[in-house]
Amino acid sequence: MTTASPALPPQAPRSARLIGLGSWLPQRRVTNAELCASLDTSEEWIRTRIGIATRHVADPATATSDMAVEAGTRAMKSAGVEHVDAVVLATATPDHPVPGTAPTVAHRLGLGHVPAFDVGAGCSGFVYATTVATALIQAGTSRTVLVVGAETMSAVIDPADRTTAPIFGDGAGAVVLRAARAGDPGSLGPVVWGSAGEHSDAIRIPAGGSRRPAHTLAGGEAADRYVRMQGNVVLRHAVRHMTRAVRDAAAAAGWAIEDIDRLIIHQANARISAGVADALGISPERVPSNIAEVGNTSAASIPLLLASAAAEGRLAAGQRVAVAAFGAGFTWAATTLVWPAGLSALT
Ligand code: UT7
Repeated sequence: MTTASPALPPQAPRSARLIGLGSWLPQRRVTNAELCASLDTSEEWIRTRIGIATRHVADPATATSDMAVEAGTRAMKSAGVEHVDAVVLATATPDHPVPGTAPTVAHRLGLGHVPAFDVGAGCSGFVYATTVATALIQAGTSRTVLVVGAETMSAVIDPADRTTAPIFGDGAGAVVLRAARAGDPGSLGPVVWGSAGEHSDAIRIPAGGSRRPAHTLAGGEAADRYVRMQGNVVLRHAVRHMTRAVRDAAAAAGWAIEDIDRLIIHQANARISAGVADALGISPERVPSNIAEVGNTSAASIPLLLASAAAEGRLAAGQRVAVAAFGAGFTWAATTLVWPAGLSALT
């Protein structure tokens, strides 16, 4: 005789919920005045055209894993957990081309032999990484995941290039995500993401990869291992794609644009953030920013902003938050969450 399994109770789809948040910045701050001493630019140009006053720069002995470990430690402490099931690290500036940096971070956090891997999606990397972590959780592969965004941009920026040197900064931020029901406070909504590889040359490190290996470079070509950027092309696409991605992510969550209490946007340029907010009709007081203090920290930008905005009380329980990023590739990603109660960011 066969007996049918009892019907499972209806359940909301599985999702991932934000339970911990932390960040870390190198101590050294570089002001616009300090930059201007060695660069053909002006304090006024940097302040008005980018919106940056200072950026943090790691000392030469500090690499991406060092900052990721600091931010990861704080995020795990904020979550009240001593263990996670996996580590996903978003970075464009790994410690080494091989191996990935995430296993080093997991080891140094004392996590044993958990799966750990890097995600490379430029400045969109952190939202890509939370999307991958959410999928791991939804699939039942992992229950609790540490997601870190960490960058040592100072290692790949040409100090003599005025089109990039004033923009980028170093730092790291991290979150802990845990299995939850979709719709629980803090759970990540549907993601809207994409790429446009036809613009891969708009932000690029021209050499040092398999296309132009480091060992083939002549002496004068060493500078091709720095980031090169067509800033105005990036700026145009960033506004267009992030505007559309926020609109689509809000719609996928069942929100109107007016429902968005806070827009957390990749800190690339204050004019980009203003352009997206303006196109969406979101007023500036709903758009927290930290670009003036930290610059563009690439994959660390979103978690650094989440942490500073939460610590300053600019993110409060129950607020509807939209998150959007755009970067090299091109890549972009946007998602939503309702800010959870009881989350204390460690900065
Ligand atoms: O995070 C994702 C990756 N990065 C970004 O999202 C960055 C996006 N792009 C930007 O933030 C802006 O495009 C920049 C800040 C990089 C440049 O601002 P822009 O308003 O797009 O300027 P532009 O590149 O169109 O250049 C305008 C002028 C040029 O001079 P001419 O040709 O008009 O005489 C540049 O040479 O500004 C000049 N310029 C500068 N002048 C003083 C470029 N950089 C500087 C500088 N100081 N640092």
